Amino acid sequence: MFRNVISPRIVKPLSAHTPVRAFSSASVLQRNYKYQHILTETRGNVGLITLNRPKALNALCNDLFTEVNEAMAKYDADANVGAIVLTGSEKAFAAGADIKEMKDNNFVDTYKKDMLGHWAKISDVKKPIIAAVNGYALGGGCELAMSCDIIYAGEKAVFGQPEIKLGIIPGAGGTQRLVKAVGKSKAMEMVLTGSVNLNATEAENLGLVSKVVPADQLVDEAIKTAGKIASMSQGSVQMAKELINKSFEVPLSSGLRFERVLFQSLFGTADQKEGMAAFAEKRKANFTNQ
Ligand SMILES: *[C@@H]1O[C@H](CO)[C@@H](O)[C@H](O)[C@H]1NC(C)=O
Ligand SMILES: *[C@@H]1O[C@H](CO)[C@@H](O)[C@H](O)[C@H]1NC(C)=O
Repeated sequence: MFRNVISPRIVKPLSAHTPVRAFSSASVLQRNYKYQHILTETRGNVGLITLNRPKALNALCNDLFTEVNEAMAKYDADANVGAIVLTGSEKAFAAGADIKEMKDNNFVDTYKKDMLGHWAKISDVKKPIIAAVNGYALGGGCELAMSCDIIYAGEKAVFGQPEIKLGIIPGAGGTQRLVKAVGKSKAMEMVLTGSVNLNATEAENLGLVSKVVPADQLVDEAIKTAGKIASMSQGSVQMAKELINKSFEVPLSSGLRFERVLFQSLFGTADQKEGMAAFAEKRKANFTNQ
C-alpha cells in the first residue's frame, strides 16, 4: 500500500520553475500537486519522474524518496500510463543517500522508524520502470536504479556501492540485487572495497544495464522503450513483470507453474483475441487493455 497517496501533506509555495501537475485519473488525486525534490511529467503513455536536487547531486533524502513513492503510486493508478521512466540529471542519477540527514541517527531510532524501509515500496509498482542513469549512481543511487526493471545508462554513468568507506554497508538491496546482476566476485569487490566502480560499458558487459547511449539521448531512448511497452496489452505486461520479479523468489517449478496459469488466463482476454487476429491479418494489434 502507498499510504501517502491520500494523506494530506504540507505543500510549499510554488516557485516559477515548478510545473504544476493535475492528476485527473482518480478523484483523490484531483488537485494541483507540487513536489519539492522531483519533477513529474507525462509523455504520451509514459510517466517521467526526474530526481531534482541538483545542489545535492540528487542525494536521496527521506522526503525525496517519499515523493518518488507518491509519484510512482499515481502513475501506477493512472490508466493512461503504461510504463514509467525514472531519471536524474546528466551529472548524477543519484550520488547516494543523504549522509547529512542520517549521520546522527542511533540504532534504536533507525530500527523503530525502519530506516530505508519505505525505499522497498518501489518494488510493488506493477507497471514497468526504466531507470535512465546519467552520471553517478552510487550507494543508494545504484540501489535505486537496481530496484527498477530495466536500466539504460548514459556513456558517463558510474555505478558503485561506497558505503563500506563510511563504516556502514548498503541497506537497500546493494548486497542482494548487485550479486544477481554482476555475479559474486564483482559484487564482493565493489561492496567490500567501496572503491571499485563500474563505468557504463563495464555495467553493460556484466549485465547490470541493458543499453548504453549518449548522455543527451538517454531519456528519449528510455521513453521510446517505455512507450513501446505501454503500447502492449497492459494485463500481459504487468503479468510478465510480476513473473520475472517472482523468479528471484520462488523455486523454478513454482515459477513455471505460476507462469503457465497466468499464460492460460490471458486466453480470457479481448487483447489475446485482438493480438492473434492482428498477427493472422498481418496488421498492428490495437489493444484495449481488456
Ligand atoms: C516483486 O517481488 C517482491 C518480493 O517478493 C514483492 O514484494 C513485490 O510486490 C513484487 N512486485 C511486483 C510488481 O510483483
Ligand atoms: C482501436 O480500437 C478502439 C476501440 O475499439 C477504436 O476506438 C480505435 O479507433 C482503434 N484504433 C485503431 C488505430 O484502429
